[in-house]
Amino acid sequence: MIIIPGPASQILGVEIAKLMKDAILSPVSFKTFPDGEIYVRIERELKGEQVVIVQSTYPPQDYHLMQLYQLIDAARGAEAKKITVFVPYLAYSRQDKKFLIGEPLSSKIICNTIENLGANEIFFLDIHSELILNFFTIPAHNLIALELFGKYFKELALSNPLIIAPDKGALKKAQIAAQFMNTECTYIEKTRDRHTGNITIEIKEINVKNRDIILIDDIISTGGTMVKTIEMAKSQGANRIYAACSHPLLIENAKYRILQAGATEIIGTNSVDSECAKISIAPLFVEKFVK
Ligand code: R5P
Repeated sequence: MIIIPGPASQILGVEIAKLMKDAILSPVSFKTFPDGEIYVRIERELKGEQVVIVQSTYPPQDYHLMQLYQLIDAARGAEAKKITVFVPYLAYSRQDKKFLIGEPLSSKIICNTIENLGANEIFFLDIHSELILNFFTIPAHNLIALELFGKYFKELALSNPLIIAPDKGALKKAQIAAQFMNTECTYIEKTRDRHTGNITIEIKEINVKNRDIILIDDIISTGGTMVKTIEMAKSQGANRIYAACSHPLLIENAKYRILQAGATEIIGTNSVDSECAKISIAPLFVEKFVK
């Protein structure tokens, strides 16, 4: 088994290789040409080998996607026997439907490309929409990191904690962490304007007074959802507030805004290379992959 850590997931790829018995790492060299075009090269013989390509597609998305495509094509061209791809964060996963007339189905373009290039199996982490798995005919799996969050927060010995999901759709996943911690879980109503992207959070009376609050979302992008939820929880008397997510994209000044709004800590996974990536998903991938 050869593990190929893509340029966007070098630490995660090495962690995965260290956890897998008999896995060999392959170095990948990469560069950007003066005109902006990109180049990767897998520096190990792959003929007849099973390989795992690890490449997340966080911003700059298109850059990381192109590297992913190049890696799959290179592995196929090098006659690897089986190509498994682990893409913890799938770019464009919020474009899983055509919301307005005239829009493309962006996530499907990516799935079709990955499959057409020759991937044999694919894994994601907490994919924004499981509908996307149906765009593949190869086996496509979604790993759920919520138990890892449960473990992380259990060790913090929080006071009467309450988990809050940012919308009804996210509640089911947040409940996994809540069950693990043996604590309560609720959600708030969030709506997003499809034209402006602005979000509205309905003020809801939640019993947060003097409680430690864990907000869990799949993605923190601009931090807007977190900031509004933190402000609501603070105004209702919450104690400490933790902002957690599987994919800490944390665009521009999102970290500042979330902490400034009153969060104690921002916690993400290493799906994204970030200073907030405090939970490693390597053991989760290895456990599910070798099963
Ligand atoms: C959207 O539906 C996702 O689940 C997240 O809530 C969203 O991506 C967060 O975005 P932002 O941090 O920009 O509010």
